[in-house]
Amino acid sequence: MGLKMEESSGLQQVNCRAKDGSAGFRVAILGAAGGIGQPLAMLMKMNPLVSVLHLYDVVNSPGVTADISHMDTGAVVRGFLGQNQLENALTGMDLVIIPAGVPRKPGMTRDDLFNINAGIVKTLCEGVAKCCPKAIVNLISNPVNSTVPIAAEVFKKSGTFDPKRLLGVTMLDVVRANTFVAEVLGIDPREVDVPVVGGHAGVTILPLLSQVKPPCSFTPEETDYLTVRIQNGGTEIVEAKAGAGSATLSMAYAAVKFADACLRGLRGDAGVVQCAFVASQVTELPFFASKVRLGRTGIEEIYPLGPLNAYERIGLDKAKKELASSIEKGVSFIKK
Ligand code: NAI
Repeated sequence: MGLKMEESSGLQQVNCRAKDGSAGFRVAILGAAGGIGQPLAMLMKMNPLVSVLHLYDVVNSPGVTADISHMDTGAVVRGFLGQNQLENALTGMDLVIIPAGVPRKPGMTRDDLFNINAGIVKTLCEGVAKCCPKAIVNLISNPVNSTVPIAAEVFKKSGTFDPKRLLGVTMLDVVRANTFVAEVLGIDPREVDVPVVGGHAGVTILPLLSQVKPPCSFTPEETDYLTVRIQNGGTEIVEAKAGAGSATLSMAYAAVKFADACLRGLRGDAGVVQCAFVASQVTELPFFASKVRLGRTGIEEIYPLGPLNAYERIGLDKAKKELASSIEKGVSFIKK
């Protein structure tokens, strides 16, 4: 069934141009039938920068593809089902978004997902290396602190690693931080910008509340409350869903916000800056999340952390300790 879908939709391949006449981008979502994948697919189908949308999963992608394909927006949608269609799903893509893998249940840390998700990410990245080595990769699958190093090792092994094109998605931490800070300040979250650096798990999530825009200050109690809530935002959702998974809708929103920034960068827009977990020299660690500027070649600039206050410096030390072992775990998964 998946193959049939693939063949029939190939007819629509003739014109892959965005409506304004400029070239649109070709985007693949791997894990497109999942809790994140489905709303992410819907939102990407609504993005005018996308001309072709490939939806790949090991289950249920034909139904999701048929459903999304009825939306009267510009992007052509094609579905791909199962490992033997992975290469067709990836060939020619400009951006590959990966939310494939199992989510947390109550009581689990993101690291508990390592054993299953590491193998999934390895396989999918081998496909990227083979079929679209120049694509930008947005990696969502947890634990991001380890899956990004896994992806990097896979790409290094195949000789295709370009650190400018591999981005771990930490956007949800920024989205949450903006929301929670706006609540405390009593202002519109759209006016708030909180840099969140480090990684994407527990204490590695380090919101820089001293650098919030618009400039503001917090009491020590507010700083503690906000830092802990931002670090535990994911667990808050896992517990509220009580066994039915982790953040999916807010994650899809965050993933699209991030993917849209990557596409605007590829288009050549100036001043596109977001936080992401990337290969970095900002600290002594080989990977770190911080603000990056996105452009035609992917990451064009990685910004330093800027001045940290005493509270943030203590947080940074804790974050680095945990990050170092998560990164090492990912690297040795491929090397051993
Ligand atoms: P889900 O279980 O609802 O969906 C995962 C999808 O991946 C399923 O459709 C499954 O069939 C598919 N899949 C499994 N193995 C695959 C393979 N080899 N190739 C392609 N697809 C495959 O899970 P959900 O809620 O969508 O979460 C996905 C991942 O995203 C989890 O690892 C979760 O921890 C992570 N996540 C990351 C966040 C972040 O901020 N970076 C936030 C929330 C979740």
